[in-house]
Order: sequence, then C-alpha cells, then structure tokens
Amino acid sequence: MLHFEEETRAATPAPAAGRVNAVDKRVINGATDVNQLVPFAHKWAWDKYLAQCANHWMPQEINMQRDIEQWKTGQLSSDEMRIVKRNLGFFTTADSLAANNIVLGTYRHITSPECRQFLLRQAFDEAIHTHAYQYIVESLGLDEGEVFNAYHEIGSIRAKDEFLIPFIDTLCDPAFKTGTQHADQQLLKSLIVFACIMEGLFFYVGFVQILALGRQNKMTGAAEQYQYILRDESMHCNFGIDLINQIKLENPQLWTEPFKQELLGLFRQAVELEYAYAEDTMPRGVLGLNAPMFKEYLRFIANRRLQQIGLNPLYPNANNPFPWMSEMIDLKKEKNFFETRVTEYQTGGALSWD
Ligand SMILES: [Fe+2]
Ligand SMILES: [Fe+2]
Repeated sequence: MLHFEEETRAATPAPAAGRVNAVDKRVINGATDVNQLVPFAHKWAWDKYLAQCANHWMPQEINMQRDIEQWKTGQLSSDEMRIVKRNLGFFTTADSLAANNIVLGTYRHITSPECRQFLLRQAFDEAIHTHAYQYIVESLGLDEGEVFNAYHEIGSIRAKDEFLIPFIDTLCDPAFKTGTQHADQQLLKSLIVFACIMEGLFFYVGFVQILALGRQNKMTGAAEQYQYILRDESMHCNFGIDLINQIKLENPQLWTEPFKQELLGLFRQAVELEYAYAEDTMPRGVLGLNAPMFKEYLRFIANRRLQQIGLNPLYPNANNPFPWMSEMIDLKKEKNFFETRVTEYQTGGALSWD
C-alpha cells in the first residue's frame, strides 16, 4: 500500500534553505527542489532530452501494405515467420516492462529534474514502441493471444523476463528507499541491468533479425519501425550509461570490488540467456544469419557495455559480425533506408481557432 505522506516526501523533498544551487544537485539522494529544472547540474540529460524529442515518430506513419502482402501470400519461409513471431512475442511485453520500470520504479528515486525530464520522454517512447509492435501484430492479423502470452509460454522469452523482473520489482517496491550503501547499490544494479542488459543487450538479437529481413526487402514496414525503435533504444541506453556513470561519480563508495564482481556475473548470465534466445529463434541458418554468429555479437556488445560503465571486458577478441548495424543506429529520419513511404505527422494538426 502506498502511504501518501511518504510518497509526497519522495516526490518533493524539503527544499534546502534559499534558492537551488546547481552544485547541490544530485542524481540520487539529492536535497534540492525537484520541481526546479534550472539551474542545470546535469546538462547532458537535458541535451539528450532535446535530441530524443527531435527523433519523434509515430508507428502509423509507416506503410505496412507490402508487409501484409508478403505475410499473407506465402512470400516468407517458415523460419522467417518464426523469427517475426518470436520477435513480437518478446517485444510486445518487453516495452511495457520497460515503461513500468521507468514510471513506477526509476523515476521516483532520481532527484535530478533534468534526468527526470529525459525519463518522462523515455516513458513516452516506450509507449510508442508498444504501439508499434501492436500495429505490426494488428496489420499482419497475428493471433494476439499467442503473441501477448509468449512471455509466459515461450521458454527462451520467459527466461529473459524472469532474469529482469526481480530488478524491476526492487525499484517498484513502495517500501524501497535509497540512502544506504545497500539500497543505493541495489538501485545502481537495477539501472545497469535495465540500461546495459535489457535495452543494451536483450533487444539486439531481435533488432538484427528484423533488420536483416528488411535488408533483403522483406517486411520492410516492420523493419523500418524497428529502425526507429533501435535509434530510440540506443539513446535510452546511452542516457542510462551517463546516469550510471554520474551516480558513480557522485557516490564513488558504491563501486566496490564485490559489487563489480556481481555485475560481471550478471553480464555473463545475460549473454547466455540472449544466446539461448538466438538459438530458439533460429534453429537453422536463415537470412545469412545463424545462432553462432550471435554468440560473437553478444560478446562484442557485452564488452562494449562493460567498458562504457568502467568495467573490464569479459570476452577478449570478440568481434562485431554485423558492422552494418551501426549505420542502422545512425539513421536520420529524412533518409529512408527501406524506401517505404513516411507521411508527415500532424504537429498541432488538431488545433483550430475558427
Ligand atoms: Fe522501447
Ligand atoms: Fe527503451
């Protein structure tokens, strides 16, 4: 049960005497007024918020007609269809987990209003992603019960979610409060799992698979949606990494040797879970891809995430077998890789003073 007074206190800590000074602001356990965005202390968060708003898109801008024809007239192999269904099975619920984690968990523990501003935009992005996956499910006429229950019913998806859920539950527990070494480490660990493992690793087998379909002119509408989602997620992941590094900077006592060892264990486990998912989604080679290529790719990504938060890579010499993925992340909206038609969305289109 939520206690109103505690909730209010967490949302609006007692302001320090006098006006807010930027030097007093902290990402966690801050004592400055969270309702005052400026003066900025964490300007990088505000800059990322602006950049993410400039990336705005909506799923219904993307034409799904070719996808529907390909799907319904047998132009995809059964292995390709399995990839699409497994993908949607994971992602339709994953982005709801992500949204809930931000809104019900992370947000209230962050005391920097500029970081909160990014989280508000990120929460809306997650709503758009869930919308996009639903739009694909609806366009293709897939069995909604099957897709939305995949995270209960498909072992390789369930295993990933079971890994994540305890970390989400920690932050969403109404009794959870930061301010002790143990609690602050729990928060930091959950942020690392969410940004570096969920958004930064668990999404990537799926992204590569659907974008590989698009590169072969298959399911180009779905692939274009995934491109926009990939761009958003790489921004979320980068924001999360900056957030983590800022917390480390402000609270160096949290970064202990046992804590780092625990994190390395989580990364090892995550690489195995995502690899099991790759094997399940690709029992045979398909689209020039096969599961062993993903073993290398996941190790490469895990190394990168570890380095980004100041840990040593776990897998020396792992290479990127999919260098084309970086051009996908750098997509500009005007540059339309798959050449499906994008219509302008109605900025302010509902306003009329007549
Ligand atoms: Fe998302
Ligand atoms: Fe995200």
